[in-house]
Amino acid sequence: MAESKAELVQMTTNGFEPKIVAFFCNWCTYLAADLAGTSRVKYAPNIRVIRTMCSGRVDPQFVLDAFARGADGVLIGGCHPGDCHYQEGNYKTLRRVRMLRRVLHDMGIEDARFRLEWISASEAERLKAVVNDMVEKVRALGPLQLKVKPEHLPEEVAA
Ligand code: FES
Repeated sequence: MAESKAELVQMTTNGFEPKIVAFFCNWCTYLAADLAGTSRVKYAPNIRVIRTMCSGRVDPQFVLDAFARGADGVLIGGCHPGDCHYQEGNYKTLRRVRMLRRVLHDMGIEDARFRLEWISASEAERLKAVVNDMVEKVRALGPLQLKVKPEHLPEEVAA
């Protein structure tokens, strides 16, 4: 549920600003972030971008490591279905994300903390909307408090 602006300001003044690790595909979402920069499209500064050559390069273990090392959220940005430079990389991502989401759910990590979005190179405004929306939702959830630090993935997800 979206929080009101006043509530969000209150949370911000309470000091919590979420840290979100963003894995962006080199060919699309990373370029959208670049375009946002050159076009002065501003979005929340809470994301730390890691460039990958394809969303399919994002090993599920990377996501668990990010959460284990203090990320409050993880965002994966990839090319739209049919546009992946490596043919099927993003379909692989989609399959992995579905399995990983179940694992994260079992670990008590809320759905809003983990997101996969297709954002092309020309979609700077969409990038802004996605990032701002995710930051708002994670901010409303508060800091991630893992009871158990993830170390290794179950085999069905790691494959
Ligand atoms: S090259 Fe962008 S998702 Fe595969």
